[in-house]
Amino acid sequence: MSKKSYAVTIAGGGSTFTPGIALMLLEEHDRFPVNKITFYDNDAERQEIVAKACEIYFRENAPEIEFNYTTDPETAFTGIDFVLAHIRVGKYAMREKDEKIPLKYGVLGQETCGPGGIAYGMRSIGGVIEILDYMEKWSPDAWMLNYSNPAAIVAEACRVLRPNSKIINICDMPIDLMDKMAVMCGIKDRRELQYSYYGLNHYGWFTRIYDKDGNDLMPEIKKHMAKNGYLDGISHEPGQEQHIDESWVHTFGKAKDVYALDPETIPNTYLKYYIFPDYVVETSDPNYTRANEVMDGREKRVFGACREVIEKGTAEGCGFEADAHATYIVDLACALAENTMERFLLIVPNDGAVSNFDPTAMVEVPCIVGKNGYEKICQGQVPQWQKGMLEQQVSVEKLVVQAWVEHSYQKLWQALSLSATVPSAKVAKLILDDLIEANKGYWPELH
Ligand code: NAD
Ligand code: G6P
Ligand code: MN
Repeated sequence: MSKKSYAVTIAGGGSTFTPGIALMLLEEHDRFPVNKITFYDNDAERQEIVAKACEIYFRENAPEIEFNYTTDPETAFTGIDFVLAHIRVGKYAMREKDEKIPLKYGVLGQETCGPGGIAYGMRSIGGVIEILDYMEKWSPDAWMLNYSNPAAIVAEACRVLRPNSKIINICDMPIDLMDKMAVMCGIKDRRELQYSYYGLNHYGWFTRIYDKDGNDLMPEIKKHMAKNGYLDGISHEPGQEQHIDESWVHTFGKAKDVYALDPETIPNTYLKYYIFPDYVVETSDPNYTRANEVMDGREKRVFGACREVIEKGTAEGCGFEADAHATYIVDLACALAENTMERFLLIVPNDGAVSNFDPTAMVEVPCIVGKNGYEKICQGQVPQWQKGMLEQQVSVEKLVVQAWVEHSYQKLWQALSLSATVPSAKVAKLILDDLIEANKGYWPELH
C-alpha cells in the first residue's frame, strides 16, 4: 500500500524561518511525504521574495511537489492536512518598539518576556486565532502546529477562545538546550534523550535526563552547568545555525547563574529575564536591541540569500539551512500523521500534569504524540520556589488574555505590574500608556 501524502500550509510564508522549514519538509520526505506546499502571508511583497526563492529550490529538488504562495485565505487553507504557523504581527518594526519602550523606563525589553512580550501578546492573539479559524472553516480535520510567539499568551488565548481546536503550540528553546546537553554528554542525536520538564513557555525546568539506555545524565550535565552554563554544549557542526549571535552566547553563559538558584534542576535560558532583570537592563543598549541585531543579521542573511537565488535562477549553493527549529516542527507533524508515538515537549492545558498547580494553566510538559493527538506525561509536584514563580507568571499571562477579551485597561495594568520584570505599578502605567500609543491599530481599544 502506498503511503498517504500530505498537503501543508506555512502561515507566515515571509518568515525568516520559512526556507529552513521548507528544506526540512523535503529532507524528511520519506518519513513524512508531502505532495503540496502552500505559503500564506498577509504581506504579499515580503512573502514573494521567500516564495520565489523556495519555488526555484522546489523545482530543482522536488518537482513532484505542487507549490503555491498566496495572500488569499481560502486558497491557502482549503484541502490541507497541516498548518505550520509562525507569524509575527507587527513584524520587526513593532518588536523594536516592544524592546525599546520598557528600556526608556529602566525595564528590560524582550521579545516574549516582560512588557515587550505582553505587548506582542496583545497583537498576536487576533492574528493566530484568525488563521486557526481559516483552517477550521476550510479544512476542519487539519492540525495547526504553532510557533508564533509569545507562545505562552497565544496558548492561553486559544484555551480560552477556541478550547476544542486542533492547535498545538510549541517552542524550540528546550530543543536547542537538549542539543546542548547532548553535546555535553557526547551524544550525537538529541532525540535519543529521555527527559522530564515542567513550566510555562519560556519559563521552565528540566528535572531528569536519561540516555537511550536509561542511564542518568544529570550528574554530567550539572557539572557543566555549574561551571559554564550551556556554553560547553555549543556545537560548531552545520545544522546549529540558529542561536549563534553574541547576545545568545551571553545568555547561554548566564544560565550558570540561573542554575545556581536551584542546582537540582536545569533551567530554561529565558528564566534569566525574571531572576536577573537588573542585570539584563544593565547589559542592554537602549538604542540597539535584539530586534536591531536580527534585522541586521538573520533578516538580511535570509532575504539576501533569497534574492540571490532569484537573480541567479538557481538555488544551487544557496546556503539555506534546516536547523533544530525546523526539525522539531516537522517531526511533530510526522508524529501526528504517521502515529510515531514519540515524546514531544508541548504547551498544553495542565489539568493535573503538574499536580500542585492551577489545572487551567497552559503548561509546557512532555507528551506522547500519535495520530489521535497528544497524551501528557505527569510531572508530579513542583517545589515551593518554582510554584511561587509559576503562580505569578501564569497570572500575568491570564490577565493579558482577559484584558484582550474584555478590552480592559485595568487588567493589562495589573498584568504589567505583576510581572517580575517591572518594579512598581507606577512604572507599569508609564510603560502601558506608551505601549498603547505605539500599538494603535494592533491592540483592541482598551477602556
Ligand atoms: P518574520 O517577521 O520574519 O516573519 C513573520 C511573517 O509573518 C512576516 O512575513 C509577516 O508578514 C507575517 N505576518 C504577520 N502577521 C500576519 C498575519 N496576521 N497573517 C499572516 N501573516 C502574518 O519573523 P520571524 O523572526 O521569522 O519569526 C516568525 C515567528 O516565529 C515569530 O512569532 C517568532 O517569535 C516565532 N518563533 C517562535 C519560536 C518558538 O520557539 N516558538 C522560535 C522561533 C521563532
Ligand atoms: C528562541 C525562542 C523563540 C524566540 C527566538 C528568538 O528560539 O524559543 O521563541 O522567538 O529564540 O530568537 P531571535 O533570534 O529572533 O532573537
Ligand atoms: Mn520559544
